[in-house]
Amino acid sequence: MSKVLIRASRTYAVQIEDRLPGDAGERVRAAVPGAARAAILADDTVWALYGPELEDRMTAAGLTVFHHVFPHGEASKNASTYIEILEWLSRCRIDRQDVLIALGGGVTGDLGGFAAATYLRGIAYIQIPTTLLAMVDSSVGGKTAIDLPAGKNLAGAFWQPSLVLCCCSALDTLPRETLADGCAEVVKYGVLCDGELFRHLEERGLDFRRAYVVERCVRDKQDFVSRDEFDRGARKLLNLGHTLGHALEQKSDFALSHGRGVSIGMAVVTRAAANRGWCPAELPERLEGLLKQLQLPVRSPWPVKELEEYLLADKKWSGDRVEVIVPEDLGRCGIRPMDRQELIRFMEEGCR
Ligand code: NAD
Ligand code: GLY
Repeated sequence: MSKVLIRASRTYAVQIEDRLPGDAGERVRAAVPGAARAAILADDTVWALYGPELEDRMTAAGLTVFHHVFPHGEASKNASTYIEILEWLSRCRIDRQDVLIALGGGVTGDLGGFAAATYLRGIAYIQIPTTLLAMVDSSVGGKTAIDLPAGKNLAGAFWQPSLVLCCCSALDTLPRETLADGCAEVVKYGVLCDGELFRHLEERGLDFRRAYVVERCVRDKQDFVSRDEFDRGARKLLNLGHTLGHALEQKSDFALSHGRGVSIGMAVVTRAAANRGWCPAELPERLEGLLKQLQLPVRSPWPVKELEEYLLADKKWSGDRVEVIVPEDLGRCGIRPMDRQELIRFMEEGCR
């Protein structure tokens, strides 16, 4: 096992294992000492694969266990699923000593985390991420949210988990496209701050070393989160590729996944940055080469004018300006504030 400590308003461990450890229940108890009940949240696909085993481990540790299963997919990350979860928690009489366990990808983690942040004004929760995206990004750092009809992640809270338990063998059952989605976030760390990680993916493609990549990304993320837990400075850099990415997800009515949106978003801002001389001229080709090798898209299916309404609904706007994350070199990015017209022009340059 390897372990990374996340230092935020709550300090907690990310434990990286090959498979679900026999003592998973004891680890949950150690992370949330007063808990008598564990409420496991999962989507239908993940529950069928991993739910009963997890439930057994929790029961073996003496916890009373409940579970709630919702339909998989981004379309579930909404207010009505969120309310269902709160009502389920209250029916199970989960109290402030108890624990919610989010077993699944980023959708489950975001929904479960937001429910944990708000139920009884906050209960403990544990993330057991089962997608690459969730292991390397969404389970760490305490951002929780649901989508509103007006935009992605518009209602949420910062609420840190008490433990993150990554079991890399869960990646074996992931469809290849979903593994590739997670790779978009791994490439993001490479461009932002970790040239060695970028080169590892260039060498190994989708056959990357699982535990090595997960641990490296978690360490990279810990660095941003410990410096800026509440997203007022350095952490904003983690939004590389996300402004356009979120707009594409919404325009496609979520047929385009988060990872694919981020992949296109990173390729577009990198082309636009190179066009303006803000990053080396060869960076876009190198980035696109890697994204394509990972079976990720690099071109927007829609012209920028058809994405405008979604770009302007992004939660990163402050007054009439939005901060766009722009690569400066492999392993270094900067923040460029833009107004509406500049943003559209910049994105159009990147879409040429
Ligand atoms: P997801 O949770 O929908 O999982 C993708 C699909 O994989 C689902 O259909 C799920 O059922 C299936 N799945 C999950 N684990 C599996 C496994 N081991 N084997 C087989 N199938 C499995 O989506 P995701 O890509 O994990 O996460 C995307 C979400 O994460 C988006 O909503 C995004 O906004 C959010 N996100 C949040 C943060 C954050 O910091 N909170 C960061 C990045 C992304
Ligand atoms: N995924 C962006 C963040 O955690 O800040």
